Amino acid sequence: MDYKQYIRVIPDFPQPGISFKDITTLLQDGENYKKAINELKEMVSALNIDVIAGPEARGFVVGAPLAYALGVGFVPIRKSGKLPYETIEVGYDLEYGKDRLAMHTDAIKKGQNVLIADDLLATGGTISSSVDLVKQLGGNVVGAAFLIELTALNGRAKLPGVEVFSLMTYE
Ligand code: PRP
Repeated sequence: MDYKQYIRVIPDFPQPGISFKDITTLLQDGENYKKAINELKEMVSALNIDVIAGPEARGFVVGAPLAYALGVGFVPIRKSGKLPYETIEVGYDLEYGKDRLAMHTDAIKKGQNVLIADDLLATGGTISSSVDLVKQLGGNVVGAAFLIELTALNGRAKLPGVEVFSLMTYE
């Protein structure tokens, strides 16, 4: 199925030269949002997943329903300063900017198999930092799943040894 028909592409947002892939048009369509999540679920079905981790904010709208569909837990990876308990943090570069990501120190148990989920793989900065956080806590990253992969930015190169699953690709 071609899910791209449900993605709205906005030129020059949030700054000139960026072609923004707006997933809100998929999310508001209940039937196709569900189909997209179920298809991602099929793509990762061979993995032995204990828990899904997803980065704020759009990673939540992919990772949480995927976790629910698989019957596994969900761990939020948040921007610095948002999580209430003890955290570990890592700095990262975005396609347009810089930030810090944090995870609770007890979010992942040593040896757990973790799938990382997000809406979009661009430069890979967000997900390679998420991989770092999971590994620092002793988790085993079994894959990374996305609705969209921007292949021209080669985010996969920042994820050596991580199996990448994407529902849609754009150049
Ligand atoms: C966007 C997107 C991914 C990330 C991809 O999130 O949702 O998480 O950027 O870019 P990268 O592969 O170059 O790291 P953003 O940081 O804009 O946060 P948001 O989901 O809260 O809008």
